[in-house]
Amino acid sequence: MIVGIGCDHAGLAMKEEMLALFKDLGFKYKDYGTFTKDSVDYPDFGLKVSEAVSKGEVDRGLLICGTGIGMSIVANKFTGVRAALCHEPYSAKMSRLHNDANILVLGGRVIGKGLAREIAMVWFTTEFEGGRHISRIDKIKEIEGNRCLKVKE
Ligand code: RB5
Repeated sequence: MIVGIGCDHAGLAMKEEMLALFKDLGFKYKDYGTFTKDSVDYPDFGLKVSEAVSKGEVDRGLLICGTGIGMSIVANKFTGVRAALCHEPYSAKMSRLHNDANILVLGGRVIGKGLAREIAMVWFTTEFEGGRHISRIDKIKEIEGNRCLKVKE
């Protein structure tokens, strides 16, 4: 499994913790930055990882910003991306089992490193359950392909 990982300045410390976890688990990864504590814009880094997942250049993604909210909003704009913002292991597990989530999003200012590690462990080791959930994922794909909703500026 190759994982694409990215963060903004608010997620940098947690990204470093996640890279240590990848090394422990023997995962290959591509690090899309950011690499310093300088303030950056989360959409720039969310875009890089989400595009890589959408194009199949990496198998899964992990995005981290302060709350995880901005990165989630960005990631879920991309075709084929199902990004799940999880701050406890139950949601992380269910997002794999039922939603076949392919990007995990964490808030570096919301939870500590220990909990983040636990969440990531569960998320990366849980497989999609398939079965009745396949047709639900298919409906998401249909919405992606067929709908252009006009939203208020
Ligand atoms: C950066 O200050 C912060 O806004 C960002 O990391 C994130 O929380 C946005 O959703």
